[in-house]
Amino acid sequence: MRFLMAAPRILSGIKPTGRLHLGNYFGMMRPSIDWQDRGEAFYFIADYHALTTVQDPAALREHTRGVALDFLACGLDPQKAVLFRQSDVPEVTELAWLLTCLTPMPMLENCHAYKDHLAKGKVPSHGLFAYPVLMAADILLYDSNVVPVGRDQKQHVEVTRDLAEKANRLFGPIFTVPQPSIVSEVATVIGLDGQKMSKSYDNTIALFEEEKVLRKKVLSIVTDSAAVEDPKDPASSSIVALYKLCADADSVALMEEQFRAGGLGYGEFKKRLFEALWQKFAPFRTKRAELAADPSTIDAILRDGAQRARAVAVPTMERVRKAMGLR
Ligand code: ADP
Ligand code: TRP
Repeated sequence: MRFLMAAPRILSGIKPTGRLHLGNYFGMMRPSIDWQDRGEAFYFIADYHALTTVQDPAALREHTRGVALDFLACGLDPQKAVLFRQSDVPEVTELAWLLTCLTPMPMLENCHAYKDHLAKGKVPSHGLFAYPVLMAADILLYDSNVVPVGRDQKQHVEVTRDLAEKANRLFGPIFTVPQPSIVSEVATVIGLDGQKMSKSYDNTIALFEEEKVLRKKVLSIVTDSAAVEDPKDPASSSIVALYKLCADADSVALMEEQFRAGGLGYGEFKKRLFEALWQKFAPFRTKRAELAADPSTIDAILRDGAQRARAVAVPTMERVRKAMGLR
């Protein structure tokens, strides 16, 4: 058990289920990268979790590598933060089982991802149902204090807190109870259709989109039918919402003013948004290309990350097994 002293332990994970998008970047990656200077940061590629949807081994390997590249290109510093693959520390599945035995079914029946699946008439796998327990194991295995995530993951951190508190009541203080950290102004990044940006809705802008595709996607952002001369509402516009994430305050203020004034069409604002996005990610694109050219660097970073993660996970499991009567 770790108490929050000067340097918090920060942990977050992301599933390698496809190309990462702006929602992932602003909701989870950038906040995580910001945290790396403020404590001991552990970030992992949640490949066990991804197996609930990706069942093609070559695709899983490719996405896993892609997530590592994206994270490093965007500024994750492996000297500061530990970057590792979830499955390189298989102890997490053991802890997930121990927590499963403490988890009331209704707690999981109440979780959004499972309920959404049922609402769509799909048959959830046991893995999807138990997903939040594995996530709790991720967080508790590393004695994490802070979990930077997008708003949709808040419920999972609450499940983790409940399980940690229950285990601590039953077995003594074996777990650190974590807090979610959600950056409120980017809690939900909006997608091309005005809904939450998500792989599941096919409305994403990938972080490392090719120039032509990016332009086309930005031009396809859904707007209302206001004419060029009409005043427009910046507060309800996805263009403005996305522009706020990538442009400086003066440029945003100018766009908002021009929305309200009327006289410019959405096409003009979309062009500006495209430019701002393209510029914002330019340095990351350069870095990504450099990293991609040298696969051995990524392998070495992940190997080192696995070792540093195991150095924390192994003693936690010894402590937990003993407290629960397994040794
Ligand atoms: P997706 O919905 O595309 O499948 P994930 O569920 O894999 O994305 O999310 C990975 C991380 O990115 C999580 O921390 C999640 O909260 C964050 N995230 C995903 N989409 C968004 C969004 N539109 N806005 C803010 N954060 C997001
Ligand atoms: N469930 C998270 C997502 O879908 C990924 C994840 C797995 C995670 N384990 C975690 C995030 C532990 C934070 C902490 O994005």
